[in-house]
Amino acid sequence: PGEETAPNVRPILHYTAKNTWLNDPNGLVWHQGVYHLFYQNNPFDNVWGNMSWGHATSTDLLHWTEHPVAIACDEEEDVFSGSIVVDDGNTSGFGTVENPALVALYTSAFKEGSAHQGTQAQSLAFSTDAGMTWSKYAGNPVLGRGSAHFRDPKVFRHEGPAGSCWVMVAVEAQSQQVVLYRSANLKDWEYLSTFGPANATGGEWECPDLFPLPVDGDPDNVKWVMVVNINPGALAGGSGGQYFVGDFDGVQFTADFDSLVPADADGTTDLRNCLWLDWGRDYYAAVSFSNAPENRRIMIGWMNNWDYANSLPTSPWRSAMSLAREVELATVEGLVRLIQRPALPLDCGEPTRTIKNMEVHNSLVRLPDAVPGSAQLIDAEILPGTARTVAFRLLGASSGSAATVLSFDAITSRLTLDRRNSGNTAFHDKFPSAESAPVELDDGVLRLRVIVDQCSVEVFAQDGRVVLSDLVFPLSGSLGTDVCVEGGTAIVRKLAVTALS
Ligand code: FRU
Repeated sequence: PGEETAPNVRPILHYTAKNTWLNDPNGLVWHQGVYHLFYQNNPFDNVWGNMSWGHATSTDLLHWTEHPVAIACDEEEDVFSGSIVVDDGNTSGFGTVENPALVALYTSAFKEGSAHQGTQAQSLAFSTDAGMTWSKYAGNPVLGRGSAHFRDPKVFRHEGPAGSCWVMVAVEAQSQQVVLYRSANLKDWEYLSTFGPANATGGEWECPDLFPLPVDGDPDNVKWVMVVNINPGALAGGSGGQYFVGDFDGVQFTADFDSLVPADADGTTDLRNCLWLDWGRDYYAAVSFSNAPENRRIMIGWMNNWDYANSLPTSPWRSAMSLAREVELATVEGLVRLIQRPALPLDCGEPTRTIKNMEVHNSLVRLPDAVPGSAQLIDAEILPGTARTVAFRLLGASSGSAATVLSFDAITSRLTLDRRNSGNTAFHDKFPSAESAPVELDDGVLRLRVIVDQCSVEVFAQDGRVVLSDLVFPLSGSLGTDVCVEGGTAIVRKLAVTALS
């Protein structure tokens, strides 16, 4: 770790470790009014290695406090990804019924020379002081398969017809499979079933999740969502998250027919037809919180991509988490799909600029500059009308043309996030990119909620039906924001720009 050097693009509302490396969110749990974010962390450097669980807490999911490393690597093992449950019934015996333990299920990636060398297996650690200090269980590992690629356990409580138990989903990463187990005490596990390979299979499957959600808010119509992260082989290239909608009977997850993409005649799968959490480059290893209040389902992803993760031009920290997203299931054109919205307060404060019903004919509207030290929230409802394109130029350089461009093309009905000319893109040849997603307008209206936070742009379109997230490294002083309408007349029905800090 060293001192903070330019360019200072540390995000304001996205979690970063002070002066070290991070990757996957781990052990997301809400406990006694506090959101805990544990994460893959290298306590000694700002590149991947020495994997341990870092720790941060928040009460609003936007402002985080870093704590000491929670679960550290040692001579035997690196501590890979996993999850945390609140052991309310003290099924593990690590706590008491009055003071239930938090139990972490993590992957022991065993080192050369250790008793289990060459394998990955699932282990336990527990905390009886609300997550601040952790002890590894002496009986580790608790679940192995003799496999070198068995990892990333996500555990939840399941109330089935035969009573309640713990269920684990984990991956056999190289076989593109999610394996399911069940336990009464978090220590002894019984194999249930296997899901996959299915849909995107051009890489390793990692960091799975499985959770129920009501469809359109109807408690009598519950579907299950299986999240499967994949690296490489995601639609936008490199790492990304796909999901399946289906049913879980306590033993087996069965994907709905319309969640599955049949292979083409040549045996390949058209990745555009798989269900993606995000159409951009930088939302990976996303999993949901355990125990979130009011049955909310809240996810956080790692805002990065293994294609270039270790090369990001920041120091001494490297890598940020995504904003937290609240997810729901809704019927979209007759199909049950995941809707994702940024977990922001209902009232984000007074906008610095609002526009109502403004006709824009082949021209550019200058919006307030991004405020240094703040993130920028842009809420817009735009009727593209006769325009060919409606574009936002974000983090534009005061001199020159560098900017991140978010544009809607009315002819193709696609929304594109283009960072090819966003500033510093040269640090890795896989970084410059433009990603696009199909967007169905609602009665001719394009709805956008965009959060720009120093080195990232997250776009939630059409009330969260389509999400695009990309990292960007603007040139210093790049704060300009414009809306540009080309090829006709668009109506900006509503627009608000708000500074968030
Ligand atoms: C995903 C991943 C996980 C693993 C962890 C190691 O990014 O490869 O599968 O547990 O990172 O840091």
